[in-house]
Amino acid sequence: MRHVLDVGDLSPAELGALLDLAERPDPPRVLAGRGVALIFEKPSNRTRNAAEMAVVALGGHPIAIRGEEIGLGVRESPEDVVRVLARYHALVGARVADHSVLEAMARTGALPVVNLLSDLAHPTQAIADLLTLRRHWGSLAGRSLAWVGDGNNVARSLVIAAAMTGVEVRLASPAGYRLDGAVVDAARGLGGTVIEADRPADAVAGADAVATDVWVSMGQEAESAARMEAFAGYRVDAAMMRGAAAGAGFLHCLPAHRGVEVDAEVIDGPASLVWEQAGNRLPALRSLFEWLLGGQPCA
Ligand code: CP
Ligand code: NVA
Repeated sequence: MRHVLDVGDLSPAELGALLDLAERPDPPRVLAGRGVALIFEKPSNRTRNAAEMAVVALGGHPIAIRGEEIGLGVRESPEDVVRVLARYHALVGARVADHSVLEAMARTGALPVVNLLSDLAHPTQAIADLLTLRRHWGSLAGRSLAWVGDGNNVARSLVIAAAMTGVEVRLASPAGYRLDGAVVDAARGLGGTVIEADRPADAVAGADAVATDVWVSMGQEAESAARMEAFAGYRVDAAMMRGAAAGAGFLHCLPAHRGVEVDAEVIDGPASLVWEQAGNRLPALRSLFEWLLGGQPCA
């Protein structure tokens, strides 16, 4: 049984296969007559809707559950929750505050577990982001992507995914908010080129795409004031984008804050890929679910 708690749970070949599967127009109904439980401890627009519709596209029935509805970790342990859900469902996806909850769920071996965002990682976002870049560029290997902003959960998964697909990553984050050195080492261990830049302009110079994310992730609200101060100078604006390669795309996983981490003229301008990116969450999740279930109709 396979789980996807981060992109590193896939091999580079498997990630490539998922991207190809996502392009298939006619997905098999591998979930016919089966359910998928989608647990959310935090708010979600894209992930919940894309995951539900991915399950529908595979012939299954999604059930989205708020963490507090089932008292995840309060009324019942995460392990017992998934042991029970396995009696009704083929797979569980979960968005959790603490990554270790996903690990506990996966350790039961009760059913495949997919990370729908944790404090550490957002693998299904990274798969959609690579799909978006591949569609924009035509191919991935040899291209470059600048990450400007927080070295957060989204950055972590994207850097690993980029390394697996031959996309060079340039990182620019303020001191104290850089991507964990172990993640950078892991990306390099996969053969990836990861450049840690001193300034956003250095990371963006000549890059084929520029990506950012919120400066305050869900659960970090108490740090807002300190983060706003630390990230001053990291807003992706038109001047910064002019330093990138001609035709460079702009990525943001959304939700976005115009005038904070990105200016409106960038996110609403011609470089922006964010709506395609949001749309690509659906084929990315669909291909992942299909692959995890073996691509065969369930009995
Ligand atoms: N990008 C993303 O995961 O969006 P949601 O939080 O709305 O699911
Ligand atoms: N880094 C953000 C991503 C939201 C999709 C967060 O964790 O809140």
